Amino acid sequence: MAERARVAILISGRGSNMIALAEAADRADCPYEVVLVAANDPDASGLARARMMGIETWGMSHKGMNRAEFDALIDAELRRVRADYVALAGYMRLLSPEFVDRWAGRMVNIHPSLLPAYKGLDTHARAIAAGDVEAGCSVHVVTADLDDGPVIAQARVPIKPGDTPDSLAARILVEEHRLYPQALAEFVRDESRS
Ligand code: GRF
Repeated sequence: MAERARVAILISGRGSNMIALAEAADRADCPYEVVLVAANDPDASGLARARMMGIETWGMSHKGMNRAEFDALIDAELRRVRADYVALAGYMRLLSPEFVDRWAGRMVNIHPSLLPAYKGLDTHARAIAAGDVEAGCSVHVVTADLDDGPVIAQARVPIKPGDTPDSLAARILVEEHRLYPQALAEFVRDESRS
């Protein structure tokens, strides 16, 4: 089999999407492997989960450092593990323009809304407050503006009467875990053909 693409995943918290991506990579026909999980919080619970799965981790607090300085440290780690792609999975920190530039066309993110609707935070509450009848999640290529790059895949769920932000988030999260591994695999396959 051809060599698999080397993916590094950036997280800030529990990392359930990271786990979905890493579990999918266990399948022999998956075109990518996960070579590093990095976090801007050394106590992010996802780091421990990644280690339990046998994945190398890196965690450091960004506090006291400016954005470009911290991102340069992450970039050095990504180069060290020879990452081909970066997958953001609940990475709750804006990235510096230099970092975004360096990984242009090779970095994707998952966002819990049907982009271009509801960029930024509190997506579930905003969709409910607007009276929307459906919501969902989007995987997109990362560009300089927040949650703004080309969308490569989306999944939709209904918003049901009585939904709270938490109940809607839980319904969408199930779809995120299904969508993200598929979308990343397709992205990597497309890129390796181009
Ligand atoms: C997910 O809802 C993702 O779409 C958003 O942040 C959340 C991260 O959850 N960007 P997890 O850490 O992957 O469980």
